[in-house]
Amino acid sequence: MNVFAFLESDVRTYSRKFPAVFTTASGCWLRDEQGKHFLDFFSGAGALNYGHNNPHLKQRLIEYIAADGVTHSLDMATTAKREFIERFNALILEPRNLRYKVQFTGPTGTNAVEAALKLARKFTGRQTVVHFMNSFHGMSMGSLAVSGSVSKRATAGISLHSTLPMFFDGDLGPGTDTIEYFSAFLDNSENGVGVPAAVIVETVQAEGGVKVASSQWLRRLEEVTRRHGILLIVDLPRPLRFWHMLLQSQTLVPMLKWWSPMSISMR
Ligand SMILES: Cc1ncc(COP(=O)(O)O)c(C=O)c1O
Repeated sequence: MNVFAFLESDVRTYSRKFPAVFTTASGCWLRDEQGKHFLDFFSGAGALNYGHNNPHLKQRLIEYIAADGVTHSLDMATTAKREFIERFNALILEPRNLRYKVQFTGPTGTNAVEAALKLARKFTGRQTVVHFMNSFHGMSMGSLAVSGSVSKRATAGISLHSTLPMFFDGDLGPGTDTIEYFSAFLDNSENGVGVPAAVIVETVQAEGGVKVASSQWLRRLEEVTRRHGILLIVDLPRPLRFWHMLLQSQTLVPMLKWWSPMSISMR
């Protein structure tokens, strides 16, 4: 019996595109039941930047579990969490004089997006969140509302609102600066929505077709949002270089998906 066809829900995505049953994974390689090897360019949609079962991570994980380390604690305090926060602060935040707090969200990318959207709306007291065309931020309600795909949005089953789509870098061709368009929209006090609470952006769009935002475009987006007191939410499972630059910003809610999802917000 094909267990997946008969007993698993039809609510799945990637298994339809990868017609194999995988057994083991190591580094950049996946192996299926027939012993066929696959070079894994997908890498958990960018979440496995250190590869499958990275030996260093695996060793520490085995040691932690073997020592009966806490593996489920909701958001309670654990020594592992304390150690992680202290180390993150010592290595990333303090050397750059950054005053941020760390929030541990649920175990998916969309959890981090939901947390950032709620935080931005609560902090600003405003509702509208600007997103970009062809964006994808996850399948929960808030994340769908800031995603571009019409078919994915339709899965919500209700109308999704309090969001506004804008043009991404290059959407209007090489001769048209989409930040200028966005800036003019914000400068007009009769634009229909007023000042948005936040802008959410992927530095590299993937699900709607791979598009890389230029550093210059992202810097200008950051400038425009800062000028208008709009929070900038950066959903970036992938490139880290721009993240360092953005951390200098005062109006930032970056979200990190490459290890366990978490978001960092202003203190
Ligand atoms: C940019 C981006 N944000 C959010 C998500 C949602 O992550 P998850 O599927 O872990 O909820 C994805 C998933 O591919 C993504 O590419």
